[in-house]
Formats: sequence, C-alpha cells, structure tokens
Amino acid sequence: MVNKICILGLGYIGLPTASIFATNGFDVVGVDTNPQVIETVNRGGIHIQEPGLQTLVQAAVKSGRLRAALEVESADVFIIAVPTPVTKDKRADLTFVRNAGHMIAPVLQRGNLVVLESTSPPGTCERILKPVLEESGQQAGKDFGLAYCPERVIPGRTMRELIQNDRVVGGIDRLSAEAASKLYKVFVEGKIQLTDCTTAEMVKLMENTYRDVNIALSNELAMLCEEMGISAWEVVELANLHPRVNIHLPGPGVGGHCIAVDPWFIVERFPSLANMINLGRTINDSMPLHVVKRLQTILDGISSPRVAVLGVSFKGNIDDARSTPALPVIWGLEQAGIGFTIYDPHVRDFEYELSTLQEALTGADCILLLTDHDEFKFLYPQELGKLMRRQIVFDTRNILGHELWRQCGFTVFRLGVGGLEKVNINQEKVIS
Ligand SMILES: NC(=O)c1ccc[n+]([C@@H]2O[C@H](COP(=O)([O-])OP(=O)(O)OC[C@H]3O[C@@H](n4cnc5c(N)ncnc54)[C@H](O)[C@@H]3O)[C@@H](O)[C@H]2O)c1
Repeated sequence: MVNKICILGLGYIGLPTASIFATNGFDVVGVDTNPQVIETVNRGGIHIQEPGLQTLVQAAVKSGRLRAALEVESADVFIIAVPTPVTKDKRADLTFVRNAGHMIAPVLQRGNLVVLESTSPPGTCERILKPVLEESGQQAGKDFGLAYCPERVIPGRTMRELIQNDRVVGGIDRLSAEAASKLYKVFVEGKIQLTDCTTAEMVKLMENTYRDVNIALSNELAMLCEEMGISAWEVVELANLHPRVNIHLPGPGVGGHCIAVDPWFIVERFPSLANMINLGRTINDSMPLHVVKRLQTILDGISSPRVAVLGVSFKGNIDDARSTPALPVIWGLEQAGIGFTIYDPHVRDFEYELSTLQEALTGADCILLLTDHDEFKFLYPQELGKLMRRQIVFDTRNILGHELWRQCGFTVFRLGVGGLEKVNINQEKVIS
C-alpha cells in the first residue's frame, strides 16, 4: 500500500507530478537540490511558468500533503525527475540520475518502488540506476521494484497531458511494471501500456526522434523551396492533405531539452548505425546559421543594421529558453556584426538583456520573428512600423498576417519561401 511518495527534482516535470499525487491524497515530499525551489514551493509558490500549476501547488501545500525538502526521506515510492542534459560532445550527462540514485540508496527499504521518469539513453535503468540503488545491499526485482515511466507531456499543456496522455511503463520485471502502473492509474486517464525498462526508454527517445527527423525533412524542404522560389508552407499544407502524410513545419532550429537532445542519446550508443538520426540533428542544428545567412542577404546594403528579435523561448507560449535555437541565431548576429534588441513576453531568464516591445522596435531595421507566441499573431504592424527605421520583417514561423503587414508598408520575408521581394535600402519595395 502506497502512502508516501518522494519525488526527486521539482522542475517542469517533478513539481506538477508531485502536486497531482498530493491532491490525490498521497503524502508527498518533493526533494530538490536547489534551496530556492524548496523555499518557493513550501510557501505555495512556483518557480516555473505552467498554466494551472500555481493553483494546484497552492492547494497541495495548503492541504499539508505536499512539502519540499533538501534531503530524501524514507517513503514507499521514489520518483526521479531530474535533468538529463546532453554534454557539448553530444553525450548524455547522467550525473543527476546517478546522484538521485545515491540519495535514495541509504533510505531504500524492502518493498519500495523506484520510478525513473527522466528521459534517458537505452539501458539507463538496467546499467546505471540499478547498480547505484543496489549499493543499498538490496536487489532490484527481488527486494525493491524498479520501473521506467517516461514523461510525454508538452510544456504549456503539462497539467492536462499528465492526466490524459497514455503512458508506457517499463519494469525491471513484471511486478515492478505492474506496481508502477497501479500507482499512475490513480490520476492517469489515458491507457497504461506495460513493457520492459529498455523498451520504454527507447519508446520515449523514438517519439522525439521521429519528430526531429520529420522537422529536419521539413527544414530541408524549406531550404529547397527558398532556392526554387516557392513556399514550403504551401507544399507542407497541400502534401498533408494526403491521408498518410504528416510533414512537420520548418523553423529556425529545434530547441528545448527533449527533441533537440533525445536523438543524441541513441546516436551516442550506436554511432555507426544511427545515421539518419544523426543527419536529422545536424540539419536542424544548422538552421540558426541558415536564418542568419538569409538575414544578412535581406539586410545587405544597410549600414549598421539593427534587428529586433521577437521571441527567444524554444517554442511558442512558454517561458522556457533552455537550449533555444534563438541563442545560436543571436551568436550568429553578433558574429555578423548585426546589432540586436530582444523582446519576449514570456521569458524572464535569458543570457542576453530583454527589452520591452517598444524599446526593441525603436530604431530597428528589421523584425526577426523566431518564436510562435500567440501575442505576436496580434501585433499591429502600422503602429510598430512607426517606431522602426525600416519596415522589414523576417517571419521564421509563418504566423503573421503577411498581407496586412505588406499593406502597412512592410517588406515581408518568410523562412522557406523563395523571395520575389527584395528590399532596397531606400525602403522602396522592388519586385524582381
Ligand atoms: N520539461 C518537459 O517538458 C519534459 C518533458 C518530457 C520529459 N522531460 C524530462 O524530464 C526530466 C526532468 O526535466 P525537467 O524539465 O523537469 O527539468 P528541470 O530542470 O525543470 O527540473 C529538474 C530539477 O531537478 C533538480 N535536481 C537536480 N539534481 C537533483 C537531485 N539529485 N535530487 C533532487 N533534485 C535534483 C534541479 O534542481 C531542478 O529543479 C528530464 O530528463 C527531461 O528530459 C521533460
């Protein structure tokens, strides 16, 4: 019988999970190595933006069922939701998973269940976590259960998807998988599929790898269409009318801590076999440079150009700018000697200074739209144009009402669209 759950890592995954278990009647202790996170959660606050999370955490803490601590405590179940970043040389950094295992081992008791939720290379449960936990003197599958249950939520819809998504639960043995499945059934409305640990690890990685390779295909299409003078967006839209085709959309690169990271975990283990996966990653990682090169062409002839970068989070409507493709774009701007200001209505934490929209646009020659935040769809170009030195926009997400922007005097460029339009430096639109 499970009464107490200890969740290690109170980030985008751990904190929502902890508060859902707490509001479902479990005694939950959330452990994090960051004292600020502990302090914030214990007063019912949140340190990340996620719709619906604040209300749930507040309710969970107020009910006395959720508290945060720096130290791991004995419990019936341990859930690990710590980061699994990729190193500079594209290898999985499993330090946090190992550390979490070392923190659990001293308090691990017979009959406990340990669940790893962090996205991990195939074999992590068996080859990395199991030996660390067995330093307790107990044996996985005999004395304690061990399962892998990957998280498949999308930031911005985490609270809904935690409950509604189907889950894959892989056990070190059948009993571990069943125990983990029973635990998640408390709040999961989707189907729960049982398998072994390594299969579950690979399922999670392949979901994101499929999307990464698909986006790479689309990005390649974007570059081809720019050469051909046609629109990749139209090609994708029309091709996707076919019942068995689902081409993803191109963009300025793939970011975040999932799609841009997970494929490397497969490449790392099987470098000579994972050729397509490797190529997909390489194409997507080349997109920021492609955006900068295209921008250089757009701004050709303008002296001391300045660009207003709109959006730096790795995807729309979230505050998360970790591993965002906006960062290599900005490095490229710096290298190319293009001045820039940055505006993002969601992001609070970023390596570069953020401005208000008005500050960012004042005196700019060009808007470079990198993220598909909903707010950007409703920008009113006539007013914005008045602030700018030149009215040029480069939309890498194809979200603006381009006709309206043109009517308001803007020259519009889109990623994936071959340019019929060119800007001359006197701001006259030239149709070639
Ligand atoms: N964020 C997502 O949308 C998402 C989706 C699917 C899967 N994942 C995966 O889930 C895992 C967690 O991701 P996240 O976005 O929640 O990370 P995060 O960085 O938001 O949070 C992780 C937290 O773990 C803490 N931490 C690090 N080491 C610890 C330890 N030994 N003990 C306790 N706490 C520790 C950190 O201080 C941090 O607060 C990663 O493997 C990620 O790939 C994330």
